[in-house]
Amino acid sequence: MGYNLDMEDAKEEIRARLAVEDVIGQYIELKRAGRNFKGHSPWGADKTPSFMVSPEKGIWHDFSSNKGGDIFTFVMEMEGCTFREAMEKLAEQAGVELKRYSGDDKKQAQHKQRLYEALELATKYFQFCLTKNKAVMQYVFYKRNLNKNTVEKFRIGYAPKSGRALVDFLTKRGFTKKEIEDAGLVNRFGGDLFKGRMTVPLMDVAGRVIGFTARIIEKDENSPKYLNTPETLLYNKGRHIFGLSQAKDAVRRSEFVVVVEGNMDVISSHQAGVCEAVATAGTAMTEMHLKSFARMTNDIRLAYDGDEAGVRAAERAISMASKFGIYLSVIDDYHGCKDADELIQKDPKLWQVATQSYRPALEWLLEKYEGKYNLRTEKGFAEYASEAKRLIEEIDPEDTVLREKYERIVSDRLGISLEAFRAKKVAKPEKKLKKNVAVQGAKSEISRAEKNLAALVKNGPVELEGFEPVAGLDEQELTFIFDELYAKLDKPGREREAKNLFGKVMRERLETERANLSEAIRAAEEAEDDEKVDELLREMQKLDKKLG
Ligand code: UTP
Ligand code: MN
Repeated sequence: MGYNLDMEDAKEEIRARLAVEDVIGQYIELKRAGRNFKGHSPWGADKTPSFMVSPEKGIWHDFSSNKGGDIFTFVMEMEGCTFREAMEKLAEQAGVELKRYSGDDKKQAQHKQRLYEALELATKYFQFCLTKNKAVMQYVFYKRNLNKNTVEKFRIGYAPKSGRALVDFLTKRGFTKKEIEDAGLVNRFGGDLFKGRMTVPLMDVAGRVIGFTARIIEKDENSPKYLNTPETLLYNKGRHIFGLSQAKDAVRRSEFVVVVEGNMDVISSHQAGVCEAVATAGTAMTEMHLKSFARMTNDIRLAYDGDEAGVRAAERAISMASKFGIYLSVIDDYHGCKDADELIQKDPKLWQVATQSYRPALEWLLEKYEGKYNLRTEKGFAEYASEAKRLIEEIDPEDTVLREKYERIVSDRLGISLEAFRAKKVAKPEKKLKKNVAVQGAKSEISRAEKNLAALVKNGPVELEGFEPVAGLDEQELTFIFDELYAKLDKPGREREAKNLFGKVMRERLETERANLSEAIRAAEEAEDDEKVDELLREMQKLDKKLG
């Protein structure tokens, strides 16, 4: 959203003026290979060049990481930036003036102003609705244990169940359909997006409302626990920090920030007196988030789960943090509670203490790795050594003291000399953050097998009964893959390939289904819905049979 037709024109103009190989050539060395260019993947550790660029088609494809796209997605991936930022960067190189395409600036500013007004009014409306609904008051004040002060500070409200309450209210107050839509308040049927949910406004640093996150109150298997405003002109997920406007004074004063996982954790934390708490959407911390923190403090304390997602998030944050001179640490003593909120419900004092007993993220991560590998086996020993080395490589090379500290810890742990550990070579780490930022743009979530098979079926052409390509494939990319991998094969060869891939694809799909199912089971368990759990478990058994 937010990109009008004029922007499409600007995109085309930039594409026309810049050669894809020149843009990419600024980042990686490309060599001509027939009609295409080849280079080493900037993300994978490929030994043979597996990164391809097609000047004719204006696209790129990386066979080692299975990503691809155009110049915009490439810059997004490399710089870890938003589409907007990539566009600005490339526009400058191309000598295209974006302003000329963005229509009347003043009109845009006025439109934005209207969206702020609509959202402010919606906030007030939801706040009012909360006072009128006893059951929801119960939920907010007793179940979630929030006090009046907190409810006011975070401007918590309630979105009524009836499908059009807010839309009607705003319409009556003179807002147009487009304004209400652009504010992100409308579902795809034109009615209210938020229905029967506790609402919490998302605010910018200045405290202006830019959207909402809304939690379901009566459990309902068919809708997600939290529903958030989609990306709009005002709300950008990768940039937004929940609770920052409420936390910023405390952060500046105490010179640290606590990053928790959930928005409700932020709210409880403030109520418990730890007003330095904020959250990014889930655990996906971006470089933009980190830059915002770095402007206020260099002491960032992560209060993430110790689970796989939490570890991944910490790894990602570490590699970014050292670039910004940030001291990253981890709060990991939850006294057996699952998140900050739960700990606070048990005893706010425990949370206050926890946020003061933090440990360096690197130390914490190394310990996690130790727990993951069996150092007595050669395999575990080697894998731990590699992971640890890779992590230490993320430390700023100029910070020799810190480097040596961790090199020593690990080499002692392994019982080898510091020199031996230093001499160990590891492949360049994959930049996980960047992948994370630009997934939408680069369509990396469709598996390699899916893409290759679709390329074969479409361009081969190969007949394959019972195969439907997944949605969202890029035809140009498929042609590209076909030319590269299968053009030289004869018909029987292609058919053989297709059969092989077919088996793999079907298996992958079942596995995805299995993963979704186990997620649903987890949710049902959390909701203590035993019937649902039983039903899902039966489905799981069936699925497991198919998987063999
Ligand atoms: P959690 O499921 O851990 O939420 O998701 P929570 O904060 O503990 O929620 P409560 O205590 O049950 O109310 C962590 C975060 O992930 C996002 C939200 O930002 C949430 O705060 N999330 C979670 C969603 O966006 N949608 C969902 O359906 C679930
Ligand atoms: Mn929670």
